[in-house]
Amino acid sequence: MLLLVLALLAVLFPAGDTQDAFPEPISYYVTQSSSFFNSTWAQNQASGWLGDIQIDGWNSDSGTIIFRKTWSKGNFSNDEILEMEELFRLYFLGFVKEVQELVSDFQLEYPFEIQGIAGCELHSGGAIVSFLMGAIEGLHFMSINNYSCLPAPEGGTRAQKFCALILQYKGICDIVENLLTKVCPRYLMSVLEAGKAALQKHVKPEAWLSQGPSPEPGYLQLVCHVSGFYPKPVWVMWMRGEQEQPETQRGDVLPNPDDTWYLRATLDVVAKEATGLSCRVKHSSLGGQDIILYWGNSSIGWIILAVFVSCLIVLLFYVLWFYKHWSYQDIL
Ligand SMILES: *[C@@H]1O[C@H](CO)[C@@H](O)[C@H](O)[C@H]1NC(C)=O
Ligand SMILES: *[C@@H]1O[C@H](CO)[C@@H](O)[C@H](O)[C@H]1NC(C)=O
Ligand SMILES: *[C@@H]1O[C@H](CO)[C@@H](O)[C@H](O)[C@H]1NC(C)=O
Ligand SMILES: *[C@@H]1O[C@H](CO)[C@@H](O)[C@H](O)[C@H]1NC(C)=O
Repeated sequence: MLLLVLALLAVLFPAGDTQDAFPEPISYYVTQSSSFFNSTWAQNQASGWLGDIQIDGWNSDSGTIIFRKTWSKGNFSNDEILEMEELFRLYFLGFVKEVQELVSDFQLEYPFEIQGIAGCELHSGGAIVSFLMGAIEGLHFMSINNYSCLPAPEGGTRAQKFCALILQYKGICDIVENLLTKVCPRYLMSVLEAGKAALQKHVKPEAWLSQGPSPEPGYLQLVCHVSGFYPKPVWVMWMRGEQEQPETQRGDVLPNPDDTWYLRATLDVVAKEATGLSCRVKHSSLGGQDIILYWGNSSIGWIILAVFVSCLIVLLFYVLWFYKHWSYQDIL
């Protein structure tokens, strides 16, 4: 059962900052990360992603797929899912066993990690392109492209040897090809259909300001937090009037547990120059009504003002009452 899955292996190219992962092209892919600690101990992790949303996971204790969304099964029947689970169980067992046997052949040294990514991508014209890549210790090793195994230049002779070896396992190659070119496209299309409402939602961000640690004496770090938005693309900038502040530093767009996103944008400024700055947020959910938050005329200021004004009113009434009372007494 060898490399059955060796082929499947692949690595994870960290998708980096997938700023514009949506809307097109959109892909479904499975990432695998296998850690080999010593000659008898290895651990597999796998997860399935639709664009930047994790929709499936792998429970390696029970050998079952975890469906993280109500729509993650697409239109796959329970029997088909049981079949896939069986295939993945065999794959992970076979993968670990084969890698452990090939350790000396491939001059690997414990501990090491193998990563893989495999999936298919829907392009705007409707074409679906499949891909599979493998990496050892984060270094690109091989990929499968147009039905052939391509050793990565970084993979050296090891990768060439691997690609030559895998060709001898016709059965495994057929299974992998079927998964990549038939099962994956069907799953991708059906899950896009089933999850349409969730995928096409637009959720408005909330934004708030805070002060970060002072970068140096006399300076302030202004922090603009933007949270709870979907989809991922967002524009956040510190402004002075209509002027963008190019020193604005954007953090990574981070996931919230509810499939929305969080981003912070910071600006270091001389303390005296902070007033008049504002944080501006543009997002598809806002329909052109940008969020603008001003630094300086903060809500604290408004609360103090409100309290002050109410005190004044109470005082005024009191004075009036007192005056009236006084006047009545005068009359009496
Ligand atoms: C592998 O590591 C595990 C956990 O540390 C240990 O129990 C086991 O004996 C090790 N096996 C070998 C062959 O070193
Ligand atoms: C894919 O392989 C086929 C046959 O090996 C070849 O005719 C075709 O040009 C290749 N396509 C690309 C994009 O490399
Ligand atoms: C599942 O959905 C895909 C894509 O929408 C479609 O091509 C396929 O025929 C469907 N299969 C079943 C069994 O409904
Ligand atoms: C805060 O101040 C800016 C300019 O200093 C002003 O344009 C804006 O309207 C003020 N915001 C509020 C809520 O008063």
